[in-house]
Amino acid sequence: MAYIAPSVLSADFGNLERDLEMINSSQADWFHIDVMDGMFVPNISFGFPVLNAINKVAKKTKDVHLMIEKPERYLNDFKNAGADILSVHYEASTHLHRTLEAIKNLDMKAGIALNPHTSVDLLEDVLSIVDLVVIMSVNPGFGGQKFIENTYDKIKKLKELILKKSASTLIEIDGGVNLQNASKLVECGADVLVAGNTVFSSENPTETIAQLKLI
Ligand code: DX5
Ligand code: ZN
Repeated sequence: MAYIAPSVLSADFGNLERDLEMINSSQADWFHIDVMDGMFVPNISFGFPVLNAINKVAKKTKDVHLMIEKPERYLNDFKNAGADILSVHYEASTHLHRTLEAIKNLDMKAGIALNPHTSVDLLEDVLSIVDLVVIMSVNPGFGGQKFIENTYDKIKKLKELILKKSASTLIEIDGGVNLQNASKLVECGADVLVAGNTVFSSENPTETIAQLKLI
């Protein structure tokens, strides 16, 4: 059974409190929160005022996915805005090891997100200090995109590397997760499934979360 992390990006921002309370009272495990800067990805999502508003209502683990350049500039601010897990992109932080240590020193769990073109082999030398790897199964920037099939092989490869290193890193899959591909993702080694469109475009989001949880 995987952790389920509904993606707030797909919520109705005119009724944000209602949608956050739906996640609070559902079987979801985490809140997945996407921050985009319009530079690293071709989209801008939201910043600290919205994060602070989310933090006041969201009662579960806040899994914050930074799609921003040079994320090391804002680590403390994300801690203050309520992040429990902070993931930065491999492609966005030059001194990644330093950034991961800084996240952990702020008492957050440290994650690395990988774009679809980035090999999991590149993580070999940092894996022992990484709490979460976010494998992007779409090109980051937007909800509701088509799942990239190569993801299955990436998960298997990363799982092997984690076992080889005796690390306790969790594998999260982000993008295009649905009720059809979820079980195969878990079979391959996924621990956490992000779901935006699948949850929020469904007729009964609470029930969809429960179905994902059954997988
Ligand atoms: C994409 C984001 C995802 C997105 C997933 O850049 O990182 O978290 O919200 O949305 P779905 O599940 O709709 O692909
Ligand atoms: Zn995300």
